Amino acid sequence: MKALILIGGMGTRLRPLTCVTPKPLLPILNKPFLEYQIDLLKRHGITDVVFCVSYLPRSFKDYFGTGEKWGITIRYVHEKSPLGTGGAIRNAMHALKGTTLILNGDILTDIDVTKFIAYHRAKKACVSIALTRVKDPTAYGLIETDKNGKIGQFLEKPSWEEVTCNTINAGIYLFEPLALEHIPAGVHYSVERGLFPSLLEQNFPLFGYTAPYYWMDIGTVEKYMQAHADIMANRIKVAIAGKKCMKNVSAGKNVKFGDNLQCDGTLVCGDSVIIDDTVTFSGAVSLGNGVTIGKGTVISDSVILDGTRIGEGVRLEKVLIGKHCVVEPNAVISPGTVLGDKTTITRYSKL
Ligand code: GDD
Ligand code: MG
Repeated sequence: MKALILIGGMGTRLRPLTCVTPKPLLPILNKPFLEYQIDLLKRHGITDVVFCVSYLPRSFKDYFGTGEKWGITIRYVHEKSPLGTGGAIRNAMHALKGTTLILNGDILTDIDVTKFIAYHRAKKACVSIALTRVKDPTAYGLIETDKNGKIGQFLEKPSWEEVTCNTINAGIYLFEPLALEHIPAGVHYSVERGLFPSLLEQNFPLFGYTAPYYWMDIGTVEKYMQAHADIMANRIKVAIAGKKCMKNVSAGKNVKFGDNLQCDGTLVCGDSVIIDDTVTFSGAVSLGNGVTIGKGTVISDSVILDGTRIGEGVRLEKVLIGKHCVVEPNAVISPGTVLGDKTTITRYSKL
């Protein structure tokens, strides 16, 4: 079976990081997000993958090439201007064959794809949609099903008044070729607002698959940070880069730890990280490749991307810092702050 991954969105909710790096290539614990999806596909024997690219398309090709290094074959289908989720799939129809697994490119999950496929076949569905339960369905596509899983309604981004259940579209689909033929060619079109309601109206068998699995859309700063913490807390079973080097600490190659390192939470370091003396970490902290941390700095629940230098006596709590930033000594950065790549924060600044 082939898989298609939708990766053409602009990732606006993760700006400023996505101004330079498309969302699916943002690292999670020092591994570009898309690699977690590729790992999932491979675990279920899927090695033939179509990437639907539009925003910053070159960056995907530059990183993944033909996919050989990952033991998969990648075909790129490029939309000159974004065609929406449905338009993108239709645009890639020539590269697909038979039943296709389709993924939103920002879903971190350990769903059992093999069981999902078996469900789809057993139901003889035209489209099967994996469902998940969330506290706030208003940010997603609400889907109602009957006892047998048959879908009765779609409501994309409902208002609270419209919310009737907590099951939402997880952005993981199985499509029969027939469903693809119902997407209009060459126009901007959404599967969520256009295709699914239209197929439903025409009585095609659409089924929702419910099972317990980990699921997170990493598309906002809060969820992107949460995904790091969840992996570190083993809430999802995925392979993380680096090796365990002491209790609650794992690290890549050539990492240097100073004296009196204190880690009350979990720390993951990329390659060539340098941590000076008396640094304190708490909560879930991720340091990218080449990050340096100055003496006496205190960091909790934060993600710091590649090449960033943090000076002495700095305090960081719940912050997301892009690549190649400089935080000068004694700066204090408060929860919720996001720094775009190459930002400099001067000494004693308070943000
Ligand atoms: N190629 C291409 N072209 N990809 C696109 C386009 C496009 O025009 N627009 C969006 N995408 C990709 C994004 O890159 C992302 O991986 C995926 O499609 C979904 O887009 P988002 O912008 O992240 O949508 P969302 O999170 O608001 O809502 C979608 O996902 C929810 C689950 O996380 C919907 O499918 C909801 O129904 C669903 O609940
Ligand atoms: Mg999303």
